This record gives sequence, structure tokens and C-alpha cells, in this order.
Amino acid sequence: HVPFSLVDELDRVLKSAAAAAGFDAAAFSPEVRVADAQHGDYQANGVLGYAKSRKQNPRALAEKLVAALPAEFTQSTRVTIAGPGFINFTLAPGSLLAWLRTYATAEQLAAGAAADHAGQTWVVDYSSPNTAKQMHVGHLRSAVIGEAICRLLAFTGARVIRDNHLGDWGTQFGKLIYGYKRWADPAALAADPIEELERLYKLGHHATPEGSPELEEAKRELVKLQSGDPENVALWKKFSEVSLGAFQQIYDRLGIHFDHHLGESFYNDKVERVYGELTDIGLAENSDGALVVFHDEHPRFSRNAERPNPFMVRKADGASGYASTDLATALYRTEHFQADGIVIVTDFRQSDHFEQLFLTVKKWFAAKGYRLPQLHHVTFGAVTGEDGKALKTRDGGTIKLKALLDEAVERAFAIVSEKNPELPEDERRAIAEAVGVGAVQYADLSQNRSSNYVFSWEKMLSLEGNTAPYLLYAVARIHSIFRKAGATPGEPATESAATEPETPTEIALARKLLKFPDAVRLATETLRPHFLSLYLFELAGDYSTFNNADRVLVDDPVIRARRLLLCSRTLLILETGLRLLGLRPLTRM
Ligand code: ARG
Repeated sequence: HVPFSLVDELDRVLKSAAAAAGFDAAAFSPEVRVADAQHGDYQANGVLGYAKSRKQNPRALAEKLVAALPAEFTQSTRVTIAGPGFINFTLAPGSLLAWLRTYATAEQLAAGAAADHAGQTWVVDYSSPNTAKQMHVGHLRSAVIGEAICRLLAFTGARVIRDNHLGDWGTQFGKLIYGYKRWADPAALAADPIEELERLYKLGHHATPEGSPELEEAKRELVKLQSGDPENVALWKKFSEVSLGAFQQIYDRLGIHFDHHLGESFYNDKVERVYGELTDIGLAENSDGALVVFHDEHPRFSRNAERPNPFMVRKADGASGYASTDLATALYRTEHFQADGIVIVTDFRQSDHFEQLFLTVKKWFAAKGYRLPQLHHVTFGAVTGEDGKALKTRDGGTIKLKALLDEAVERAFAIVSEKNPELPEDERRAIAEAVGVGAVQYADLSQNRSSNYVFSWEKMLSLEGNTAPYLLYAVARIHSIFRKAGATPGEPATESAATEPETPTEIALARKLLKFPDAVRLATETLRPHFLSLYLFELAGDYSTFNNADRVLVDDPVIRARRLLLCSRTLLILETGLRLLGLRPLTRM
């Protein structure tokens, strides 16, 4: 049996060696991780902490541990001790080949990865724009990052529920209905519904100033909607439908298909239970007519904070709000979907809201004896232009995502046409769609999501560096080698003659290929896809070094088979990795 991640294997082997060497098993954790390439393949650091807690010499303990490793292990793995007691492991070429033969198809990779979250259900709440409004760049980031997280979780075995938590409820609908009933233009509504709804909302807003009878009228429209007036409910449904239709055009281009669109309105009839339970358990309290939760252990959410900022479970006018629906949502996801994990992807400005939400949910579920899922708020920074300012159109408006993706594709088309003028135009168009949209996705996924990101067409579309075009091109080049060889990637007939990797560049590439499981795991556990991007970028670099040093299509059938095997595994892992990030790899570019 060849394990998918060698980290797991080393962990197991080291634990049993530790037992044989007389370590206290409960206190020793091997702490195996991927090493910097110059130190070997993996490194175990656990002896250091263990030695410290025992007040013993770490180097001597490391030697004792290594001496207890079974002989068949040390035959296939070179083990060295470095510095104060790090243990380094370097796999023998035979082990590299065994892994490459075991994980030869997308299905085999998936089967290897599936153990991490097998049997678990994860709900991922992402994109989640507000209806009757233009989706903005933040919702695009959320969509791109959220989709990558869904794919990583699914690949590692989870049942993933993709939920678009639309902002489809709230006081703004009173003003929108007010505007709609007076000024709606059916032609404009058919041509660009969101644009028209935004115009009508603005008109409604300006026509209803504070204290005016018009505002009273807008409020009556809202009350009618909330109490089920058929006309207003029908209007509101229409707003949601046309908005979703427009959003879906963007999602289609990004390869996103939600399982559910359970927006805020879905939780209307579920907030009463929240009010009741939070009051019963004494977590929520009345504050000037509102129902609020304080967290006194928290410096900013405590009632004694300088500016008390409680979690607003129910507003003073009795209406529900963002906190109310999110509490009901957490309960629904736990009870109805039986979620083991909940991930919500929004920009960092909502951090306080989710911190308060999670604190409240933890106390509430504990008091009621409900099972608590893992709760994760996945945040990301702002998108800025190259001038460092928020990304806006020239006149200061919101950038339309369709226009943004169209521009990416147009720019990619120019690049593809220059590179490959002989390809027919429709093929160049199809390639440009994958490269352009992929460039926008990858620009987001290649950086740590916590930092702000500078939107730069030149950078994201460059054929050099950690970009989508660079990686997609690397994939296309490997395909072209197989076309030249008249072979299919992964064909057993081509590969059966392959021997162990031999040259330094073959070995370096094979060693990098074996780290794919660890990159996937790191990206999934931290919910940070850029770890996978970085790995793919480095893999493409090792491949290119190999390709420059070792000619693949040589006459010697054994060398050729060995190198073709490395090409096909690089291709498999690059394609699998890019798909996990939501990109569409190409065979030609
Ligand atoms: N609609 C919100 C916004 O546009 C994002 C919703 C995120 N999900 C949630 N469960 N609160 O900012």
C-alpha cells in the first residue's frame, strides 16, 4: 500500500519508533511537515518540544528515535539528523516511482485525498450578493474564493452544500416598491434589470426624505410586503428572480452552480424561535425595546466597553435584521443540513459581525445541547486599483462584473491571437474565455486572501510569473509533447517500461509531484487556496527546469517512457490542481 500523503506515513512510523525507543507516547507528537527541498522531502520537528518538556538533550533523543526505525523503512528513505534535533527524510527514487504509479489518474488522486473529510457535511455560504443591486467586486472575490474552497472540501471527501445567502430582505424594499410603482420602465427592465432596479431604488430613496408623507407611504409598502400583500410580494419575487438571472450569467462563466439560494427572506419565519430560545436561556436581554446579546468576556462586545456594541438580535421596532437571520441560518444549517462545518466568505469588514455571531451561537447551542459545527468566517481584503484606491469606474461608480470579465477575455484574446495566429478564430475565442476568466480567478487565488489585492491587468495576464496564463500554458505545452509523441497521457502501454527517476532534474520533479497531497491539505485546512496556487506554480517551475535539462522524446525507449511518465503526472496534477481552483485547463493555447 502506498499512502497518499507521506506525511501520514512518516507520522505513523515515527510514533511506533518512539514507542519502541521508550518515549512517552501521549506526550510525543512527531510534527512531520514538508521540508525545504535542500533539506530533503520531509522534516520531523517533534523531538525538540518533547526533549524540552523532559529536560533532555534533543539531539541524543533524535538519535535514539532514528535508531528505532525499522530497517525496511531506512532502506527506502534516507534519514539524517540536523541542527539541535530535526530529523530529515529523503525518499529513495524507488519510492518516488511507486507513488507515481499508484496515483496515475484523477480518480486515484481523488480517492487518496478523500480520507480527510470523508463522512462530513460542509455548508459554504459565498458570493451572497444583495438582490436588486449590482454585484460588486467583493462578491466576485467571495465567489472565486468560495468556489475554490468548495472544490477543495469536496476533493478531500466532504459532502459540500453550496449556499448563496442572498440579501433579499430589508427596509430598502419599501423604497424600491415605492419607486417601482411610479417610474418603472418595462423596456429598461427587460434590457438591464439590475440597472433599472438600482435607478428605481435611487428615485424612491430621493422621493422619500426623512419626515415626509412619501416616506410614510414607502413604509406602508414595506409593511404590506411583510404582511403578505399579493401585489407587493409578487413584485419582490420578481426583483429576486431578475437579480438572480443576472448573477447567474456571472456564475456560469466562473463554473459556479449553487445547490441553494436560501437568502435572508427564507429565515423570516424562523427568527421567532431564535428570539424565544435566546431569551429563555438568558443569553439575550431587553435593551430599550431591542433584544441584544452582550459578551462580557470580550473587550469590545461587553456591556462595559467604551462604546457598547451588542449583537442586535431583534431591533427596537420589532423587526429582524442581519444578526437575526444569521442566527436562524446557523441553526437551520446545523439541524436541516446536519453540517459538520460552516464556512462563510465575506470581506474583512464583517469580521465583528461574525465574531459576535459565532460567540452567540456557541453559547446558545451549548445551553440547548445542540451539536456545534465548526464555524469559519473566511475573510478577504479589499480590491484596489494600481493607485491603491478602491476599484471603481472612472466616474466613481461600481464596476460591473460582466464588463470586467469581458475586458479580461478581450485582452486574453489579443494575447492568444498574437501567440497563435494560425488557430481558427472561434478556437481562439474559446481559449480566450478560459484564459481571461481564469486570469481574474487566479489573480485572486494566488495571493493570501487576507491581504488587499491590487488589480492589475498586466500582471494577471502575464505569461510569466505566478499567473493563470503561465500555468495554463504549461499544461498546453505538455499536451503538445504528447501530440508530438503520438501518445496519450497516462497510457499504461507507454508507461510500463518506465524506470525510477535518475537525473537530478527528474528526481526534483518527482519529489515535487509527491507533495501535491500536502499542498491540498494545507490549503483546505487553512481555507487558503493560495497554498495550492503556490504549489502549482513551483511545480510548473520544476517541470520547466526538467524539460530544459532532459529531452523527453529521445530514442531510448526506457528513458523516453520514464520521462513521459513524469510529463503525464505533471499534467495530471497541474490539471487537477487548476480545476480545484475553478479554472478550466486547455489542451492548446
Ligand atoms: N449579503 C451580504 C453582503 O452583501 C453577505 C452575506 C454573507 N452571508 C451571511 N450569512 N451573512 O455583504
